[in-house]
Amino acid sequence: MMLKGKTVVLGITGGIAAYKAADLASKLTQAGARVETVMTESAMKFITPLTLRNITGRPVVTDMFEPASEYSEEHVALAEAADVIIVAPATANTIARLAGGIADNMLGTVVLATEKPVIIAPAMNDVMYRNTVTQENVARLKARGFTFIEPEYGRLASGKTGKGRLAETSKIIETIEKVLGIKTDLEGKRIVVTAGGTQEPIDPVRHIGNRSSGRMGYALAEAARDRGAAVTLITAPATLPAPGGVEVIKVKTAAEMKKAVVAAVKKADALIMAAGVADFMPKTAARSKIKKESAALNIELVKTPDILSEVKGDFIRVGFAAESENVVANAKKKLLAKHLDLIVANDITAADSGFDVATNRVTLIDRTGKEEGLPLMSKREVAEKILDRVKGMMK
Ligand code: C5P
Repeated sequence: MMLKGKTVVLGITGGIAAYKAADLASKLTQAGARVETVMTESAMKFITPLTLRNITGRPVVTDMFEPASEYSEEHVALAEAADVIIVAPATANTIARLAGGIADNMLGTVVLATEKPVIIAPAMNDVMYRNTVTQENVARLKARGFTFIEPEYGRLASGKTGKGRLAETSKIIETIEKVLGIKTDLEGKRIVVTAGGTQEPIDPVRHIGNRSSGRMGYALAEAARDRGAAVTLITAPATLPAPGGVEVIKVKTAAEMKKAVVAAVKKADALIMAAGVADFMPKTAARSKIKKESAALNIELVKTPDILSEVKGDFIRVGFAAESENVVANAKKKLLAKHLDLIVANDITAADSGFDVATNRVTLIDRTGKEEGLPLMSKREVAEKILDRVKGMMK
């Protein structure tokens, strides 16, 4: 669902490749986009508005019932609502119309009325495409900031082969994502993220916990998912809703988390340990509730397994260091001790950073010892920065 929440205005013009726009509309809709279709009159000779209406579940704007008017509210609204406009296929005629700023149909009006990015995917006879006037129009629109998706070489409707076929749907979608700044750079990668604060039982009603809210880990899982990764989120208790499109494994204790991590990393490209894992646990958990009558209570604590240090395998390891003093120096020590590729250090004494807040101020330290201090940003933005580094270290 890379295009969730995005509005794509799809302009279809009158070329034989118009039928391919149905596939594009379908893929865009499946990717979560709201697709608003605008068809020219000649496009309707090749494919019906009904087809697009059924595929997108949205009304289709045509020139049929309403006279085009650059003052028309609806089309200005569409031009504003769009996150991106894609014209596919774009005929030589429409390209000329757009290059000339002519708004004598709906599509021309919407494009003229927008300040959003416009992408043009031409499809036409090879001679028409090569024609100087077409090339001049393309150049003018490029100079105005339009993005062009070159037609491909292949068999054309005329039966000849030449450069003029509409680019593949996948190429068009890739371009839309790129223009929208949507990254898909983690496609095909498997990323395991841990989150939340583990709970180590004292008795059936009490546990030793910590202040980790799970926000950083959940933001990482969501960001990795949105960039195309297959994500496993191993989460200790957190009060956040489980992110969609992610495999969620719920655990309570450090020992349970370790077991889940060991199983999950077998196929992983990266392990990001954002969880607040208890360092100590009660040696034994009382089977029944400990009574409060006694004057004092001593609980013997023992070390929990150190997941990061103990989990072996060929994947990128990222750890967190929540510190209250000598932040960077302590983080560097952990990086070495736990054989990490990257450590994310944060000073938990700052009010706007660390536990239970939506923002974080961290320093990223890699194996070469290089430090990258990031300014205060949302946990989602921190997640993107961490993933940029993880991606950079992948083969
Ligand atoms: O040593 P410290 O607990 O500060 O290390 C923090 C990092 O190590 C975090 O990434 C945390 O998820 C991980 N960790 C772990 N197993 C533990 C304790 C911490 O993997 N038992």
